[in-house]
Amino acid sequence: MKRILPLLILAALICGSALVAAQTVLAQDAITKLAPPAFGKLTRPAAVFAHDKHNEKAKLEECVACHHGGADGKQDKSASTEGTPCAECHKVKPAGKGTGLQRAYHKQCIDCHRTKGKGPLACGQCHVR
Ligand code: HEC
Ligand code: HEC
Ligand code: HEC
Ligand code: HEC
Repeated sequence: MKRILPLLILAALICGSALVAAQTVLAQDAITKLAPPAFGKLTRPAAVFAHDKHNEKAKLEECVACHHGGADGKQDKSASTEGTPCAECHKVKPAGKGTGLQRAYHKQCIDCHRTKGKGPLACGQCHVR
């Protein structure tokens, strides 16, 4: 037992860090639906969006294709902001003529589907009951 114990501790440490690494890799994989807290209670079923699978199938390698930056009413299509929620910059009720949160999602998702001729366009295909 005396010799096994350090080995057990080592094994536990290795497993522990492997688990942390796996969780980091799975961070976006875990997204299957979008329900941004900023909306409060949703009036539609949360939109289906399996982040990593979607982006693989759609061949979207550039994160900035969706995670753009910007400030003071000007979008910056070259600044990548992955990890920053859209709601950080797009308010549910924007002051002035900024793009509101619902419109931001709809415009980004639906415009691309329309342009590529692929991906859902109808309400019920994204807001799946
Ligand atoms: C098709 C659009 C799209 C592409 C391409 C995309 N993302 Fe995302 N990503 C989203 C959306 C939408 C969210 C949810 C944002 C929100 O909460 O407002 C998100 C959320 C995230 C989050 C937050 C995870 C969490 O658990 O909250 C991370 C991290 C992330 N994306 C990283 C990436 C990385 C890295 C890439 C490139 C390899 C990438 N994204 C490409 C649309 C996209
Ligand atoms: C760091 C701030 C920031 C983040 C994060 C951000 N945006 Fe934007 N976005 C802007 C700014 C600034 C503009 C230009 C002003 C406006 O339209 O509100 C803009 C414009 C837009 C537009 C209108 C222009 C166009 O491309 O058609 C859409 C749609 C949009 N954003 C969607 C999104 C979505 C969806 C997310 C999350 C995946 C997101 N934005 C995250 C700052 C941001
Ligand atoms: C830059 C382009 C682009 C953007 C932005 C985009 N999509 Fe897609 N999406 C696609 C393409 C291309 C497909 C078809 C993939 C295939 O099956 O070949 C697709 C397919 C889908 C599908 C079908 C199932 C699946 O996962 O393949 C859903 C659901 C979907 N998109 C939801 C969304 C939502 C929600 C958003 C916004 C948060 C979004 N998409 C943003 C390009 C895009
Ligand atoms: C390509 C996918 C897609 C399509 C098509 C789509 N939506 Fe959405 N919608 C979203 C996403 C993503 C959000 C933000 C995340 C969420 O609310 O689930 C959203 C948000 C909303 C919201 C605000 C949140 C809430 O539930 O109160 C409403 C309302 C809404 N959509 C209604 C509609 C209606 C009506 C249609 C058809 C005319 C439609 N959507 C079509 C993806 C889509």
